[in-house]
Amino acid sequence: MSSPRATIIAPSILAADFARLGEEVRALETAGADWIHVDVMDGRFVPNITIGPEVVKALRPHTALPFDVHLMIAPADPHLEAFRAAGADWISVHPEAGPHLDRTCKRIRELGAKAGVVFNPSTPAETVEWMLDDVDLLLVMSVNPGFGGQSFMTSQLRKIERLRRMIDASGLEITLEVDGGVTAANAQSCRDAGADALVAGTAVFRGGAQAYADNIRALRNEAA
Ligand code: DX5
Ligand code: ZN
Repeated sequence: MSSPRATIIAPSILAADFARLGEEVRALETAGADWIHVDVMDGRFVPNITIGPEVVKALRPHTALPFDVHLMIAPADPHLEAFRAAGADWISVHPEAGPHLDRTCKRIRELGAKAGVVFNPSTPAETVEWMLDDVDLLLVMSVNPGFGGQSFMTSQLRKIERLRRMIDASGLEITLEVDGGVTAANAQSCRDAGADALVAGTAVFRGGAQAYADNIRALRNEAA
């Protein structure tokens, strides 16, 4: 059931040195990252506060890599335009952030970005079954959102398999991403379950900038 496509590696800058974010983003591009994963937290939807559109805007000139913006904010709708204008290429929202998930996804696409839906560990896969036409990305959280450095929940591998079957049956071009506690040790089981894209914070930033390239290769299960 693994995805035939090459794995997209999206380092999460939540684990970066926030005092040198521009430099860190450039180092990730040099190290072979495919996307930059940006965790936006509002202190309400999740018990942590991170960054807003102004930081995304400041980072935009530092890399041509796609910005994969993960919105852990509620409501999300009032902020979609600002993140798109700041340079977000992919914008993902949690269904629990508002009553009209389909309308939110349509709005993200209207703004010219790719629309993503995020599944908390407790969010059922069926949430998107009737609106697959309106999404470009499905993101499975393998931790409860809010912090980096947590342990991977193997229970979520079954949800990845379920969504992979749903996507394959639909024939639609939808990327399947996993986020939270992803390491070189569990990356292959994520791929085997059907994931196309892997988000990793701790596993990429460990060891400093000179280790980023090896860490990214390890997530691809490629030799150092
Ligand atoms: C958690 C975030 C993740 C996190 C990943 O709420 O959505 O993107 O930063 O970091 P690690 O890989 O350290 O779990
Ligand atoms: Zn994330």
